[in-house]
Amino acid sequence: MRRSTVAAAVGALVAGLALYGSAQAQEEPVQAPGAQQSTLRAAAEAAGKFVGTAVSDGRLNDASYSEIVSSEFSSVTAENVMKWDTTEPNRGSFNFGPGDRLVEFANANDQQVYGHTLVWHNQLPGWVSNGGFGAAELTQVMNDHITEVAGHYAGQVAYWDVVNEAFNEDGTMRPSVFQTTIGDGWIAEAFRAADAADPDAKLCINDYNVEGINAKSDGLYNLVSGMLEQGVPVDCVGLQSHLILGQVPGDLQENIQRFADLGLEVIITELDIRMTTPSDPNRLQQQAQDYETVVSACTAVPGCAGVTVWGISDADSWIPGVFPGEGAACVWDENLQRKPAYDGILAGFGS
Ligand code: G3I
Repeated sequence: MRRSTVAAAVGALVAGLALYGSAQAQEEPVQAPGAQQSTLRAAAEAAGKFVGTAVSDGRLNDASYSEIVSSEFSSVTAENVMKWDTTEPNRGSFNFGPGDRLVEFANANDQQVYGHTLVWHNQLPGWVSNGGFGAAELTQVMNDHITEVAGHYAGQVAYWDVVNEAFNEDGTMRPSVFQTTIGDGWIAEAFRAADAADPDAKLCINDYNVEGINAKSDGLYNLVSGMLEQGVPVDCVGLQSHLILGQVPGDLQENIQRFADLGLEVIITELDIRMTTPSDPNRLQQQAQDYETVVSACTAVPGCAGVTVWGISDADSWIPGVFPGEGAACVWDENLQRKPAYDGILAGFGS
């Protein structure tokens, strides 16, 4: 069913959907869950979910790296090359080459593409963040960007993070250039532009530190509830899940469920679980348990569509550069050797 039809009906159906969750996200498991699966991709499929990874554009030429990405994952997300600073570095000048490379890779490996991200306050070119635009012109700039990028990838991208990281930690709106210039309506405007550009892609809002039930996830919950009531075409919520070892929120599953009860799909969009480095066997075992806990929470909720990890190898992770002394957050180590977290994910999918 096209999203625009769903959007028109969603207000009346929200209560009904609460009874049934977001069934469309739950495909019938193709094999009995619990059977031992040989890859993350097979285990996720058996659980009726997708499993993805962020892909570093520069690493796709590495045979070992691309073999893991193609064999272990059914979804790929561009770690950087579908962000505004790459796709529209100058106004009206678009660069789709790097993103197209990922789409070609996904098509060659029967994978879905998860689009990341159309509107974000970070990795935004200076002509936007410091353009001095008024509300009307910045709205036009945003709509033009969304129209060109989502239009270019129409039919090739299954999901878009339309809006990324719109909230402050206390649940108020982050004072991004979009929020301060356009006001509260910018998010609905962005989703409507994305829906017009690609009516078949599922449109998500994505954020971090919203994995548990807290002021920030309440702010997100209230926003998407209002968007649904107003018929704004929003389909999904992304919980980034950049977590700290031993600190998986105890109410993660409950939080996933409450968004699913709105009729939305929920995706764990950027999972990594960092620790102080160097790692040791005990902490790697804890990490495996934490990965299992997160994946199990998604598996348990029919409206949770899948889990994406934020990169496969500790060697490529964003974390050491941002959190000095921390890292070892990924499922494969810096030599592309599997870590215990791999088996934790298999277990989380019920394999
Ligand atoms: O492309 C330039 C290159 O030309 C230059 O030589 C090089 C050195 O300055 O920088 C390169 O840009 C880097 C970019 O990644 C591409 O590699 C930026 O410095 C670097 O800051 C950027 O980091 C990315 C970060 O987002 C930016 O905020 C990480 O790789 C990426 O993993 C991370 O991903 C974000 C998600 O998009 C949103 N959620 C949080 C997550 C972690 O921050």
